[in-house]
Amino acid sequence: MLITGAAGNAGSVVARMALDAGFDVRMADIAPPADHDLRGAEFFRCDTRTASDVDRAVRGCDAVVHLAAWHCAHEPPVSDETIFAVNVDGTFNVVQACRRYGVSSVVFASSMAYGWGSVYGVTKVIGEDLWRMYHEVTGASVVQLRYHDFVPKQYLAWGSMLLRNGVDRRDVASATVAALRGVVDHKVDLFRTIVHTNHAMPDEVAKDFASKGRDWCEERVPGSAALLDRYEIALPAQVEQHDLTEAERLLDWKPRYGIVEFLTDLQRRDARGEDVRSLWAPGQTPD
Ligand SMILES: NC(=O)c1ccc[n+]([C@@H]2O[C@H](COP(=O)([O-])OP(=O)(O)OC[C@H]3O[C@@H](n4cnc5c(N)ncnc54)[C@H](O)[C@@H]3O)[C@@H](O)[C@H]2O)c1
Repeated sequence: MLITGAAGNAGSVVARMALDAGFDVRMADIAPPADHDLRGAEFFRCDTRTASDVDRAVRGCDAVVHLAAWHCAHEPPVSDETIFAVNVDGTFNVVQACRRYGVSSVVFASSMAYGWGSVYGVTKVIGEDLWRMYHEVTGASVVQLRYHDFVPKQYLAWGSMLLRNGVDRRDVASATVAALRGVVDHKVDLFRTIVHTNHAMPDEVAKDFASKGRDWCEERVPGSAALLDRYEIALPAQVEQHDLTEAERLLDWKPRYGIVEFLTDLQRRDARGEDVRSLWAPGQTPD
């Protein structure tokens, strides 16, 4: 199977997880992944804007996880022209190569930015439509994953982000590999799901987190209210939650890392006297 964008933030973890799950992984990206433990896997240098690169990368693969894209959070920023070319032309080239080689299992990285509010958002609209067309025309099993934000952050910012539409990169990767299993086993025809954190928080707490959140955190992780103060972690007014039961039913996937896991981890590090202010989120380094 092929992973495009395999050297990226999601791609490198997806590749590692897919290898661990026993998949025969081919990675494609414009440059090889930095991680040493991925050096053993097959790597194709491939600019998805170039049809012949994509053809070479897809040939011989029965499944494709298409992650290669630019998004809006890169520093310095990527131009809208490049975002459009990579996310739309690049995706089209992958679709065409999949048709040529009869690929019957596809996972596509969409985004919660899907929509008409930015060029990037529109590229995900077009991307989802292209893969929908691919499913309609070929009958391939396709899963589209609308990830929430998992741009690398420092440890405390990451914890805070989990309450503000962030999702842990490990959950992004496990959702992607679960989707890969789902399409390879043809358990789904065309399925789309949001990939988000699940704090298992009652609705009345989520809707009024500003006043109820602190007590809820303290109840779940005794001592955490003091940690929120010490590390100046501000609570949002509300916490967005999604019903992810279809993803669990169809893909056997559910997220593992929410605010409770973060606070438990923070407590452990705090007790050890770690300088958490200078840490990055688990396994993450800056872009
Ligand atoms: N990071 C997020 O918060 C987030 C949120 C929602 C959706 N997504 C989507 O998830 C996917 C993965 O995102 P990420 O955070 O890992 O991004 P990333 O920038 O870390 O990784 C993307 C990879 O694509 C590669 N790439 C760029 N242009 C290419 C080209 N022309 N040909 C081949 N490879 C190319 C890059 O080299 C990079 O390794 C993307 O499709 C992105 O739009 C990301």
